[in-house]
Amino acid sequence: RTVYLNGQYLPEEEAKVSIFDRGFVMGDAVYEVTCVLEGKLLEFEGHMARLQRSLKELQMHCDISRDEWLEIHRKLVELNGLENGGVYLQISRGNAGDRDFHFPKAGTPPTVVLYTQSKADLRNDPHAETGITVVSVPDLRWHRRDIKTVQLLWASIAKMTAEQQGKDDAWFVEDGFVTEGSSNNCYIVKNGEVITRPLSNDILHGITRGSLLKMMAERQLKLVERPFTIAEAQQADEAFYTSASSFVMPIVEVDGVKLGSGKPGPVAKRLREIYIEEAL
Ligand code: PDD
Repeated sequence: RTVYLNGQYLPEEEAKVSIFDRGFVMGDAVYEVTCVLEGKLLEFEGHMARLQRSLKELQMHCDISRDEWLEIHRKLVELNGLENGGVYLQISRGNAGDRDFHFPKAGTPPTVVLYTQSKADLRNDPHAETGITVVSVPDLRWHRRDIKTVQLLWASIAKMTAEQQGKDDAWFVEDGFVTEGSSNNCYIVKNGEVITRPLSNDILHGITRGSLLKMMAERQLKLVERPFTIAEAQQADEAFYTSASSFVMPIVEVDGVKLGSGKPGPVAKRLREIYIEEAL
């Protein structure tokens, strides 16, 4: 792969970052994942807007403009002949010169890394046909989940917990309510109504979520933004999650309880179709 590091396009073996980089030592970095379909970037503006917000919330500075970001994304897709998959972008607070809790001095350049990840065409993901299974775990993450940082250890542990139980993914639960999935926003469907947690610092403001809700509103589909419990999810007709790397993914089991027919439901299937049709 050809990757991008601080202004240069390099073979991945040659892209090297300091052992004193804040991202490495402190988990002090933000990221975005933009989906690529047929060589095209999906939801580019949304991801860049959220990136700017993450940077601002962490008082991190990076003076790459929207147009420059677009050029870097496009060039990486082209150089790597990427058809389907995604572009991973990460900005850390840079090389601090040594380990120190305090931020490095003003003017320290951030470390900017982008690379492509090739995947099968997401539109034909076999998981969408069968639906996926989830288990719940307590949400032990910090309370700024609205900022897309690389501090993903608890999400990793949650995914490993699910895998060890033979399940596909995990849902985080806090104060009795589901916050979100380990790397996605989640929804239940009851009597034709879609229910999802409202935006706050408790969850990541998913770009896919934002677009899907807009598409639903345009079609006058019923949506209620409120938190829901695991018990409520288990009694729901359907459930699904959204993310840039899966679009709309039907969920057929929560903590061992099959939902409805145990197969992907009509609402999730329809929303997946709508999203795929409109997103490209
Ligand atoms: N994850 N919630 C969390 C905790 C996430 O990590 C993600 C995205 C989402 C969905 O956001 P979006 O629709 O903007 O992708 C929600 C990405 C895909 C990842 O970490 O790979």
